[in-house]
Amino acid sequence: MATRAHIVGWGKYVPSRVLTNDDLSRMVDTSDEWIRTRTGISERRIAEDGETSASMAILASRQALHVAGVKASDLDLIIVATCTPDYLFPSTACLVQDSLGSPHAAAFDLAAGCSGFVYGLSSAASYISSGVYKSALIIGSETLSRIIDWADRTTCVLFGDGAGAVVLQAGNSNSGILSTALGSDGSGGDLLFMPAGGSREPASHRTVAEGKHYLRMRGREVFRFAVRAMPAATRLVLDEAGLTTKDLKLIVPHQANQRIIQASAKALGIPEDRIYSNLDRYGNTSAASVPIALCDAVAEGLLERDDVIVFVGFGAGLTWAAAAIRWSAPEAPAAATGWDQVRSRVNYGLAALRSLLRRIARWIAALFVRE
Ligand code: ACO
Repeated sequence: MATRAHIVGWGKYVPSRVLTNDDLSRMVDTSDEWIRTRTGISERRIAEDGETSASMAILASRQALHVAGVKASDLDLIIVATCTPDYLFPSTACLVQDSLGSPHAAAFDLAAGCSGFVYGLSSAASYISSGVYKSALIIGSETLSRIIDWADRTTCVLFGDGAGAVVLQAGNSNSGILSTALGSDGSGGDLLFMPAGGSREPASHRTVAEGKHYLRMRGREVFRFAVRAMPAATRLVLDEAGLTTKDLKLIVPHQANQRIIQASAKALGIPEDRIYSNLDRYGNTSAASVPIALCDAVAEGLLERDDVIVFVGFGAGLTWAAAAIRWSAPEAPAAATGWDQVRSRVNYGLAALRSLLRRIARWIAALFVRE
């Protein structure tokens, strides 16, 4: 039987700070009622000072590695899907690789907006099925609160921060990632973008004064794209896997708007509850939303061995991506306790200390070489 990539671990991290619709209604001219009826969002998480896309990615990854029973040192590949990296370079994936302690892993970031996690999953699955790599860590992590104009009610109510990760491993069973499909339409790039801070318009006093370092979106057009892309991509990966919507247990979609989920359910002829939603709790976390939703679906006991599920995303680019999966993962271990979280933070601190010591050693070595 052909080698396929299997999801063997999953993890998420969301900041503890909650921003409710009522909080937002005190910041801009909006209301809980408008946000809930137009989007389905009730609250979202916002990163504390010092929390970044890399730090959240690391915490989600540790959980995913724990569930998988895979050592960070055995990883071959780390992909971080994000549009809010810690730096333009080095990649957030390299920060994660260093902190986790994965010396053999290739690491890179992937920019495909809200489709990024599914793009990353598809890329890693190809490396695995072609025999190049045996294990990979795919992460979606976003700190969107840092690129949002908190005075713009048309965007600030939609987004939240968080991270989700999965571990993939090569296997020969008939489950795992069955098919994937990726697509893009670059002509829609200006519908959702950040105007300044890149090589076209480098950051300056003027770009900051003009608010060009904030995300800009033409929501209605993105909405129209999403309601076309989500059902079409779902059908495509099911077709490719020789399946139909009748075989489908659950769609785990990018979480952007409950009305997009409702329209997609209608277009696919399936009940709305077969499309997983946790939008009310976290809002749109871009590339992090699919893996966070997967973690919540597993925690709610919605997935059993051999269930067919579809991941589907759409977003900036414009891009879309989908993957059909026969669920083969082991039973989820007991939910993380407060002690697990303390241990995870201590491990993170120790890894940061190790990384610092390595830097100091390099610095001392350089001093001696100069002399
Ligand atoms: N509170 C109150 N009123 C508001 C708010 C708000 N927060 N935001 C907009 N309005 C007003 C508008 O000003 C407008 O008023 P007007 O009629 O007087 O001009 C009215 O509400 C309707 O505005 P629309 O933009 O038509 O509202 P719509 O129903 O389209 O909802 C939304 C807007 C929620 C943004 C929707 O279009 C959407 O979800 N789009 C898709 C976004 C998406 O999927 N993004 C995914 C990718 S994200 C990524 O890749 C990073």
